[in-house]
Amino acid sequence: MSAEGGAGAPLVALVAGASSGIGAAVARRLAARGSAVALVGRREAELKEVAESIRAAGGTALPLALDLAEEGAPADAVAMTAAALGPVGLLVCSAGAIRLAAVHETEERHWERQLRVNLTVPFLLAREVLPGMRERGCGWVVNIGSGVGSEVVPGSGGYGVSKHAVHRLTELIHEENRDRGVRAVTVAPGWVSTRLAARPADLGVPEEEVLDAEDIADTVAWLLDRPARMSVGPLIRVEPTASRAAAGDAMTRHLNRSRAEGAGRAAEENR
Ligand SMILES: NC(=O)c1ccc[n+]([C@@H]2O[C@H](COP(=O)([O-])OP(=O)(O)OC[C@H]3O[C@@H](n4cnc5c(N)ncnc54)[C@H](OP(=O)(O)O)[C@@H]3O)[C@@H](O)[C@H]2O)c1
Repeated sequence: MSAEGGAGAPLVALVAGASSGIGAAVARRLAARGSAVALVGRREAELKEVAESIRAAGGTALPLALDLAEEGAPADAVAMTAAALGPVGLLVCSAGAIRLAAVHETEERHWERQLRVNLTVPFLLAREVLPGMRERGCGWVVNIGSGVGSEVVPGSGGYGVSKHAVHRLTELIHEENRDRGVRAVTVAPGWVSTRLAARPADLGVPEEEVLDAEDIADTVAWLLDRPARMSVGPLIRVEPTASRAAAGDAMTRHLNRSRAEGAGRAAEENR
């Protein structure tokens, strides 16, 4: 198996954004493959629940309740993982913040929050783990990007910009480290049924046409099974098959719906 450390032991993993959705599914999958996994997120109860499900299946999990947007938190997460489980050999960044709005409607604090969580946090985590991976001659950095990081979707605002930039960050990490045995990949999903995305039923799309978090965990597991000589990506898009479940279009419809609801609420309040 390619996702192994030098001595053949599975790599220690750190999953940022592991309390729900894609990150939780990826964390469970990595643990099932034998990795000891640090689970990072802000919601302690949810993290503990994910950790319990991993332990119940015989795996090793370390829940770390941290706000990664806070100064020093990414470095703390890496240090706490290394102290408890060993050096991080597999970093997955799935933490995400989203606030859809056209550029002229975007508040500065929302812009900064999205850039911080979606771009700066992956940068800071990668900066912490890369020196060790380079030294050991193996490692993985998997960033969860987005289809709207590759497409110009009106209203994707700071979210789309941050995802576009994280795709480039991953490409840089890939080029700078490929000769040191470190592979970097962005897995960029389209619409996945999670708390972060619009509910399919709200936009008239059958639930089964939208991706499941397990589909993204499958993709990550598939990547990790490639032989060491093989690099895939560095950008892999995973989209629903049906065009009516395409993320860009859904995002625009979701935004228009939220605007209409907002306008309705404002009219109601003014009455
Ligand atoms: N769902 C989709 O359609 C879709 C499509 C394309 C890309 N993505 C990307 O997939 C990734 C995962 O999202 P998801 O869909 O699985 O939604 P989700 O269930 O809401 O997951 C987001 C995760 O990010 C964590 N997070 C957010 N801010 C954080 C912070 N400041 N510090 C630490 N953790 C933080 C959340 O944990 P806490 O709340 O506990 O902190 C949660 O675990 C995101 O990067 C998202 O942009 C999703």
